[in-house]
Amino acid sequence: VTTTPLSIPAPPPPVAGDIKLSEVISALSYALDITEGQPEGHAVKSCFIGMRLAEEIGLSPAERSGLFYALLLKDAGCSSNAAKTCMLFGADDLEVKRDWKTVDWQSRWQAFLHVARNVVPEESPIRRAMRVVSFATQGAVGTELIQTRCERGADIARMLGFGEETAAAIRTLDEHWNGEGSPEGLAGEAIPLFGRIACLAQTVEIFFTTYGRQAACDVARERSGRWFDPALVWALGAVERDTAFWERLAGPDVRRHVAGLEPEEQVLLADDAALDRVARAFAQVIDAKSPYTYRHSERMAEIAVRVGGVLGLPAPRLRDLERAGLLHDLGKLGVSNLILDKPGKLTEEEMAQVRLHPEYTLRILERVAAFRELAEVAASHHERMDGRGYHRGLRAGDLPLEARILAVADIFEALSAERPYRGALPTGRVLEIMRADVGAATCPVCFEALVSVV
Ligand SMILES: [Fe+2]
Ligand SMILES: [Fe+2]
Repeated sequence: VTTTPLSIPAPPPPVAGDIKLSEVISALSYALDITEGQPEGHAVKSCFIGMRLAEEIGLSPAERSGLFYALLLKDAGCSSNAAKTCMLFGADDLEVKRDWKTVDWQSRWQAFLHVARNVVPEESPIRRAMRVVSFATQGAVGTELIQTRCERGADIARMLGFGEETAAAIRTLDEHWNGEGSPEGLAGEAIPLFGRIACLAQTVEIFFTTYGRQAACDVARERSGRWFDPALVWALGAVERDTAFWERLAGPDVRRHVAGLEPEEQVLLADDAALDRVARAFAQVIDAKSPYTYRHSERMAEIAVRVGGVLGLPAPRLRDLERAGLLHDLGKLGVSNLILDKPGKLTEEEMAQVRLHPEYTLRILERVAAFRELAEVAASHHERMDGRGYHRGLRAGDLPLEARILAVADIFEALSAERPYRGALPTGRVLEIMRADVGAATCPVCFEALVSVV
């Protein structure tokens, strides 16, 4: 079971009056990092490297803008293959995914070692060997896992309003120069340039963060012409001796430096419609993590807004409530599917992992200036009126109305949907179960409003 530590550096100072879309997306990219089992800041640092390559090869500002968001969002599809990764390996998806990016899949021996190291770690050697054999015989498995991730990631970019070049970069991120990558086996210049840059940037980031500058540049050279476009590896060579660049990459202010890399004449601002799109897109990323949470965030937000409407909340508060509902389970991206999809009762240790997810939600959202106000509300959706909820054990007096609304909407949606350990319950039965806990778990006023809307 993976514990994902979160220590996210402070955001760059906000631009007076305007919210930059890059600030929102770069802060939320930490949620994508934890889904990939990567140390926080992986996407932001990959962006820093990729943008430097873009400068070296002389991309125009318009091209750099598309690339900038492709690099930040490269892992937007990461949650869509988490459940399947977990099922195939019989292991923690976060750990498998962490290894995945460093393994040289074109070397059969390395690929074999990766599978052998990761499958059913708790099982006997015989069961592990059986799983390795069955994995090896399913040749297309890796391709399928990558395809799901790439297609989904590209869809998310389109949903956010980015152009086809950005979507294509995300779709082709794991294609390799010699045609042995996935999902389509594109080769050479048939792979879009942004995809080639993202592929090199993400690998360099991981090797740099894990082993340092020398190892990062060595792996790029070693895989030049196999994984990577030789021209881009050559461009990286020009950066190799730029010590200030590598120091910034390793430093605590990398997010601020990255914010400055969005081409000035192309800076995108996040108005209310854009923020709504971001919240909806990330709700899809969250819900894709487990087959049992299909449309959970979207439906929970919809129920919450209807309950808030009955209780007379004005439009701006309803808008925030909807965004809080869409993003409330953001922290679940950092919880292994071994736990989320477990068919039986959770152990104490597993339960402790689940209880961390609102805290992850809080720590990611409060770093998005535009979502800071709703971070507390979103992260309070498992608190109870009697103080026995999590993650802070707040009591009724500390819970704003919006947090109480989210709590009833969340319980209602969760009980109404199928779960790994039980089927979906009919509305009447859900309300009966919830009624028994009114006052102790949920707010009576919010519960009555819920009854009136469902
Ligand atoms: Fe939750
Ligand atoms: Fe939830």
